[in-house]
Formats: sequence, C-alpha cells, structure tokens
Amino acid sequence: MMATQTTQDPGIHQLHHDRLLILDFGSQVTQLIARRVRESGVYCEIWPFNQADTARIQAFAPKGIILSGGPASVTEKGSPRAPAALFQMGLPVFGICYGQQTMVAQLGGAVESGHSREFGRAYVAVDENSPLLEGVWNKGAREQVWMSHGDRVTRLPAGFRVVGKSEGAPFAFIADDERRFYGVQFHPEVVHTPHGAALLRNFTHGVCGCRGDWTMAAFREEAIAKIRKQVGREKIICGLSGGVDSSVAAVLLHEAIGDQLVCIYVDTGLMRAGESEQVTQLFRHHYNIPLIHEDASDKFLKALEGTSDPEMKRKLIGTLFIDVFEMVAKRVAGQDGKAAGFLAQGTLYPDVIESVSFTGGPSVTIKSHHNVGGLPERMKLKLVEPLRELFKDEVRALGIELGLHPDFVRRHPFPGPGLAIRIPGEITAEKLEILRKADSVYLEEIRRAGLYDAIWQAFAVLLPVRSVGVMGDARSYDYVCALRAVTSTDGMTAESYPFDHEFLNRVSTRIINEVRGIGRVVYDITSKPPGTIEWE
Ligand code: XMP
Repeated sequence: MMATQTTQDPGIHQLHHDRLLILDFGSQVTQLIARRVRESGVYCEIWPFNQADTARIQAFAPKGIILSGGPASVTEKGSPRAPAALFQMGLPVFGICYGQQTMVAQLGGAVESGHSREFGRAYVAVDENSPLLEGVWNKGAREQVWMSHGDRVTRLPAGFRVVGKSEGAPFAFIADDERRFYGVQFHPEVVHTPHGAALLRNFTHGVCGCRGDWTMAAFREEAIAKIRKQVGREKIICGLSGGVDSSVAAVLLHEAIGDQLVCIYVDTGLMRAGESEQVTQLFRHHYNIPLIHEDASDKFLKALEGTSDPEMKRKLIGTLFIDVFEMVAKRVAGQDGKAAGFLAQGTLYPDVIESVSFTGGPSVTIKSHHNVGGLPERMKLKLVEPLRELFKDEVRALGIELGLHPDFVRRHPFPGPGLAIRIPGEITAEKLEILRKADSVYLEEIRRAGLYDAIWQAFAVLLPVRSVGVMGDARSYDYVCALRAVTSTDGMTAESYPFDHEFLNRVSTRIINEVRGIGRVVYDITSKPPGTIEWE
C-alpha cells in the first residue's frame, strides 16, 4: 500500500539542508524520532533497514544516522541488521533500543535475551559525562526514561564505555566518542523520557554538527521552486475537499504557478453544515484562486440509495467522485483547448514511509480510504505532491507560513466520504439534515468550551436505531445520536476525550431540544484500537 520514496532523485530541500537518516527496524515509535529531529530544525528521512545500501546512503549524504528500535531480538537467527558498511562511513551513529543492540552485536559485543525485561518508566543513573549529555544530564544524576525491552547488552564492543545504567540494563547508555557511536536502551523519542528531545538534539546538532536550518519559510521557498521546475507551463488540477492538506497544497501551488492552477470542489451532498460556502468563500474571494464548485449532491444521494454496507458506500463514493472530477476536469481543459498535465494531491509523509513488515504479506484492509488515487491513470495525469515530505503538524505550520488563518489550519480532519460514514445503514437526505444540525450544535459547544484544539476530531453520528422517549406528555420514537471525540497524534491510535458530565449534559439537552428527529444522545468511549475513529 505504501509507495517507495524517491530518494534516488534528491529534492531541492535535500540538497540545501543538513540531513539525517533514520533506519527503521519496525518500532511502533520510529516516526516519533523523525518528528523530534525535524522539530529541532533538521531534515530527516526514514528508510527501512534493508533498503539502505552504501551508494544510496552516500547519495543522500546524511550528517548522521539513527538506528530505530524494533520488535525482533538480535539473538534470533535472521533478525534484521544494519548494513555493515554503515559503520565504516565515518558518520556518527545513534542506536536506540533494538538499534543499540544490533550495533553492539555487529561491532563485536554481546546481547542476551529474556533475563531483564523493562517496560514503562525506568531511571538511568548517569555515571559519566558525554557530548550527548551536554547541558542536559549531569554526572551523578538519576534521570527518568521510558523503556520497552526484553533483551539487553551484556558486553561492549572495543572502544565503547558505559555512560549510564538502569536496574534492568547495565549498559543503558553507551558511547564510543572517537567513532561518534552512541547507544541507548531507552527511547529518547517518546514524551515519557522528559529530556529525550534534548538528547536527540545533542546528537543532531552537537555530535553531527547540523545547523537546524529546516524551517517552514525555507521549505516554502524551495517547494515553490521545485513545483515550478516540475510543472513548467502546464496546467494543474487540484481536488479541494476543504480539509487542511488539500487547502495548504492549493495555496502553495497557487503561489508557485498562479492561474495555471484550477481547483475543483465537488459538493457530494455529504458535507457538514456550511462547509461548501466556507470553502468557496475562502478560495474564490479571499485567495482569488480559480475554483469550480460542482454541486453533485443529487448524483451521490441517488447512487447511495438503498446501500447500507460500509465498504459498498465507500466504493460507490470513491468511484463517483472520480467520475465527477474527471468530467469537470475535461470541461476545464476544454475551455482553452489545453488539457491539464498534472493532478495535485495532498499526500503526506506518513503515507510515503514504507513500513517494515516482519510478518511478510500485506496488512488486511480495515477500510478502503477514498482519495483521487484512481485518476492519474485514467486521465494520464502526472502527480504533483508538494507535501509528501511533511508530517501533519508541519503541514499546519506551512499553512500558517502561507497566511492561512490559524482557525482554518487547526480544523479537525474530515474524511473523504463525509457524513456517509457517520450514518450507519441507509443514507437519506432527511438523515443527513438531522446529522448536520446535531453535529453543528456539538461543535459549537466544543468551541464555546474552548476544547476544540485539545481534541483531534469530534463529530456526531446518527445511529440507525429508534428509541422510545417522552417529550411533553407524548410518547416519542426518534433516532439515537452518538457523540464521538478523540485525542490522537496521527489518527493511527486514539483515546476518547474525557468530557465532564456537565458538558455532555449540556450538549445532549441542546441536541434533543433543537434537533427534530433525535430522541436520545450517547457518548462513545471506545479507544482505537480496538475501535476506529469513524463508525464505518
Ligand atoms: P479511522 O476511522 O480509520 O480513521 O480510525 C482514521 C482517520 O482517517 C479519517 N478517515 C478518512 N479520511 N478518506 C479520508 O480522507 C477516508 O475514506 C477516511 N476514512 C477515515 C478519519 O476521519 C480519521 O481522521
């Protein structure tokens, strides 16, 4: 599912900035290493451990390499190893957890399995000084870290010394200052290691000598130059959903190539209250970006009639979206006789990183997410993906850099299939109207309580269940509305938001009083996993 990244063809960003390479051994938190490194202003990429040959590393020219953690044990036959040549390149290397263990094993030390597991909070006794500790930890201190290991290093390779130890890891922090090789058993990339980011910064800035010149202002300038070079005089079409990613991509593209860009907003009839007006207003009137607003709501609702199966809904919507988009794009092209050569997509870095799979085979499809992925082939379009090197929070920072309003940039994610996947069962115009009203009351209360930015995503769901109640003196028999709100860092895992009861009571009362058709309100407290964020 994940595409291989094109580091063979270094982008402009990679040529001008200091770079760091992260080799992934399959840890759940590898992406956090990249985020910490980038937060300190250093551009970095994550590559699977088995795709880093010497020539490729040399072409990328990193100033240092970080080896991530991973689920395997170096004591098992056939477990992953870093390319041996990596230790001969004269580059600083920082091994984290599994990364430390494989470095030790590959350089002549020893690792043992199973005797001392440490999971969660632990403490490291700092016995020595090291450039990696400079200004962060002092000799003699006892520092909190986060551990997650079953194996541990038991003998150091020549040239290494112990800098710190924990109860379960006598070699919790090791250093070979001459070769600039460092290893830690704990995870500096997670927030539960309070000074972890500072330690990583000491590695990137102190040991590797990175300048920290990866800023959004620099990214913007270079991305614009790159887009101009890629696109030339050709036309680009960009599907705008009103979400943050496609909006930021559109504004960046417009800055780069002006009127060569045409945005297309397809109103599927599955949008939230006021959404279409907001998008049109923002792009046409505020940014003066050409925007085609195609009202295809009748088409979508007709096609969805009688469909209850979630996957069928997603597939129908995906196909229809492509049909409508294609039709509008042809119309645009026809106006001046020049067909568009490019399609812009708001692909982000997490979609580009190739995941390391230890189980072989592809992962199961939980949900088939819809984007306009089927278009380039059908229309013979080339892709422009100006955000493919960025994480979500970096896209938000770029949005601010481009002058988008902070409220807009902080908007919660909204799925491509829209409200269709928030109405389990059959979708009707009536149900959509009920849901829109309930959703906007809920969001209004969240904003009023100042909670919007603390929540990753919040929305109402209309259940295909009717429930009995009393309203006035009469019996009512109306729909049940479920409220969902989660915290998350990337949408991959999530926790339900712990609203207080007073807040939930207020929302429930308002929805029942103000939205005809809803007779009962419930709050969804499922985390992800095992649940997903959306209901379908
Ligand atoms: P789930 O429900 O899988 O959602 O936990 C994770 C995140 O992805 C969003 N989502 C989608 N976004 N097209 C999208 O553009 C889709 O088909 C789609 N399905 C889910 C969801 O809102 C959450 O942010």
